[in-house]
Amino acid sequence: MDWNNYQRNFPAKYIPMSRAMGDKIYSICKANTINTVVDIGGGKNSATFMHIIINANTKIYLLDPYIIDNPSWISEKVGWDIHNVYDLGVCKGAINYLSIDQIRMIPTMCKRFVINTYNKAPSTTWKSSEFTTLNDKEGTERVRKNGPIIEHQLVFKDKMITHTFWDYKIKDLKQWLGNCNTKRYNNNSILLYKE
Ligand SMILES: C[S@@+](CC[C@H](N)C(=O)[O-])C[C@H]1O[C@@H](n2cnc3c(N)ncnc32)[C@H](O)[C@@H]1O
Repeated sequence: MDWNNYQRNFPAKYIPMSRAMGDKIYSICKANTINTVVDIGGGKNSATFMHIIINANTKIYLLDPYIIDNPSWISEKVGWDIHNVYDLGVCKGAINYLSIDQIRMIPTMCKRFVINTYNKAPSTTWKSSEFTTLNDKEGTERVRKNGPIIEHQLVFKDKMITHTFWDYKIKDLKQWLGNCNTKRYNNNSILLYKE
């Protein structure tokens, strides 16, 4: 899985930041002085959404080992070995790719955080649905739960992209994150946050 092409290959519906997540980041930024933000699993573009809501002087750090370029919106790329403390951590569509040890680092690394994930896991039988990408390519998305992982396939006319992520339970995530708050939104999404 090449995460440098995420926006080109994934269903367009996954790309924008949800209203619920944007509103939570916005309210945290209004109520606190946020000078530093770490975008965990931010990819090439995630924090471009945050620029709309975060003060232009705020420094945004990208913690994403799979992104090759230095996107223009970041101050610096950081690794899991850098033990800085950030005013805010954001993790959009990426928590289920992290190891448990990495998730446990978040409450120490981030004074506040906003994370999203799904609420209910897919079934163990494959479910298919049609999708289009941001650049109007059509494909079929297939997903199923298989033991502790979720298998996800994106099938195009000329190629298939397969990858997996961890099926973490919300109660476990809450515990690893130090008993944070939760807020459900849309059909099957949930925010885990500390403000
Ligand atoms: C589904 S993409 C989401 C990208 C971005 N947050 C967005 O919403 O546009 C998942 C991201 O998680 C990153 N990722 C995967 N494993 C990671 C890890 N162990 N630590 C940090 N980032 C990771 C990938 O490189 C990828 O950019």
